[in-house]
Amino acid sequence: MLIVDHPSAMHRWSAAARARGETIAFVPTMGYLHEGHLSLLREGRRRGKQLVASIFVNPLQFGPAEDLDRYPRDPYGDEKKCRACGTDVLFCPDPRAMYPAAFQTRVRVGELASGLCGASRPGHFDGVATVVLKLFQLVRPTVALFGLKDYQQFQVIRRMALDFDLDTEVLGLPTVREPDGLAMSSRNAYLSAEERAQAVVLSESLALAERLLADGERDPAIVQARVIARIQARPLAAIDYVWVVDAATLQPLAGPIARPVLLALAVRFGATRLIDNRVLLADPITPPGPAPAATR
Ligand code: PAJ
Repeated sequence: MLIVDHPSAMHRWSAAARARGETIAFVPTMGYLHEGHLSLLREGRRRGKQLVASIFVNPLQFGPAEDLDRYPRDPYGDEKKCRACGTDVLFCPDPRAMYPAAFQTRVRVGELASGLCGASRPGHFDGVATVVLKLFQLVRPTVALFGLKDYQQFQVIRRMALDFDLDTEVLGLPTVREPDGLAMSSRNAYLSAEERAQAVVLSESLALAERLLADGERDPAIVQARVIARIQARPLAAIDYVWVVDAATLQPLAGPIARPVLLALAVRFGATRLIDNRVLLADPITPPGPAPAATR
């Protein structure tokens, strides 16, 4: 496995791989890798002649009061895991190389970023889209793999790839969970034992909503209210948002649930903010989204 730490070296490597006609699968991450990340790497291994992973804790996507400085890191463990998944290149750039002092251009995401995490974290998705565009320019991936755990992020990046005519297929893979249902996340490391025990309420409340829909409930306000009540029964949980939205546009529903919807949650346990989601009334593995390239 080649470890590349400078953007210009990454750019040279990918230009040469492309010139040889090789396909490149790419998994961008912020490190502290867990089974969710590794599921993306394993699928990437199957899909590309070359597999590139990046580890970069992107300052542009953190708000001033967020956890940029204490974001968990494990460079040696991450390197071992990437190797074990058959990664060819691990790209770990320095923030000063990615964002030199003169840097001043941003991607600004529209309506897809206005609700859910975009409302709670202003500028977050502009920061994500900007770094992913930069990473795509450097890695030149044929296919890039993202987790549906960050469903809004996946939709934002898929939209950006269409809007900017990027030559990269953007794939979303299912959320990998702990045995009790908690979605794996690098931020789970922040939870105390008591918070960790109560955090299972996120996946429990998604299952509750699924049962409500299966029983014929179609009023988004009732689904939201039942989910909120379920989460509030856990004393350490503080709700950031609970929304039933259109699964393609991520906008609130104007009427009853009639087509695929996304139930999305963000809940704080102490200083730790966790998110989870489920697509209801649709196959979660093939979420609805922008039309395929031929019809856009
Ligand atoms: P990070 O949180 O490290 O996540 C990297 C990738 O792993 C994302 O595509 C995310 O959706 C996926 N992932 C995280 N937890 C997962 C789980 N439990 N199951 C499946 N996939 C999971 O997301 C980011 O980094 C950053 O915003 C990034 C895209 C790298 C841009 O900075």
